[in-house]
Amino acid sequence: MSAAGDSAAGPLLLLGAEGQLGHEVRKLAAGRGLALTALNRKQLDITDAAAVKQALGRGYVTVINAAAYTAVDKAESEEALAMAVNRDGAAHLARACRDSGAALIHLSTDYVFDGLKGAGYREDDPVHPMNVYGRSKEAGEAAVRAALPAHVILRTSWVFGAAGGNFVKTMLRLGGEREELSIVADQHGCPTPAAALAEAVLVVAERLDETTYGTYHCAGAERTSWYDFAQAIFIGQEEITGREGPKLRPIATSDYPTAARRPPDSTLDSGLFQVTFGQGPIDWRRGLSTVLQELLVPQEKGQGLRGKV
Ligand SMILES: NC(=O)c1ccc[n+]([C@@H]2O[C@H](COP(=O)([O-])OP(=O)(O)OC[C@H]3O[C@@H](n4cnc5c(N)ncnc54)[C@H](OP(=O)(O)O)[C@@H]3O)[C@@H](O)[C@H]2O)c1
Repeated sequence: MSAAGDSAAGPLLLLGAEGQLGHEVRKLAAGRGLALTALNRKQLDITDAAAVKQALGRGYVTVINAAAYTAVDKAESEEALAMAVNRDGAAHLARACRDSGAALIHLSTDYVFDGLKGAGYREDDPVHPMNVYGRSKEAGEAAVRAALPAHVILRTSWVFGAAGGNFVKTMLRLGGEREELSIVADQHGCPTPAAALAEAVLVVAERLDETTYGTYHCAGAERTSWYDFAQAIFIGQEEITGREGPKLRPIATSDYPTAARRPPDSTLDSGLFQVTFGQGPIDWRRGLSTVLQELLVPQEKGQGLRGKV
């Protein structure tokens, strides 16, 4: 990875700086001395087309869109807002990139698929979202493709990191409160550590040109279920703290009604990404143990479980 100034990617602009992915991109970029401007929602609301256009007029080579409406269940009752952020925000960014000559790295989701394929999804498989969030992200992808050839869309899944809200942190919190947890065992997918995804984003940024533009899947290599993921979380917790996790009970999706329907198996095949960008598979179990260390091992300031759990 190049240093600031001589990076093929820089200067970079990051939107959604305080999300899970945004947090990790900032951390990596700072460690590498990359020229990155990171904006949170207060600093740049991507639903504001004029503000986006103005921000993009400042000579960025690559824009990373980690901003999104990600509340999957809430989106069912907030469709207009989900569309404003995930479809219209993406469109504003793509048009502003086109007008300013920047390229765009845009994040999307496994939830553009219905999960009925029965095998890992490849990039050219037909999309068929099952919920509002998935439809809004699919519309965002379409808007990016329509406005801007100079883009890479990275579809990812089941993202977790030490910062922000996610399944790992929810499990640790609930595991501390209850003796038994019922976890859905018939939905499958690929957990993805936010740090590994951030690394992938920076690799893309460095190699972004007409030979790499397009859509890629970028997720943890090993397919699992929420139940098995929860088991891995509590095994990891016990290894670090010696504290036994709660008893886990596998349940069916039908036993756990949610506002949004979810794909039963949204496993992403990340092979094209790996070949194109020369990357190995993402080991989410290794990423999980790093995140658990970060969350559970008391830091210098003396706190254990940190952040928004
Ligand atoms: N999390 C997952 O499991 C998952 C799975 C598949 C794909 N993805 C995709 O991966 C990307 C990164 O996800 P993530 O997990 O890092 O999401 P996240 O933690 O929810 O972060 C999203 C960030 O976007 C910001 N944001 C929301 N509305 C905005 C707006 N109008 N203008 C500017 N910023 C806005 C949020 O700010 P506030 O906090 O202030 O609202 C938040 O900081 C997203 O494109 C997401 O769709 C995520």
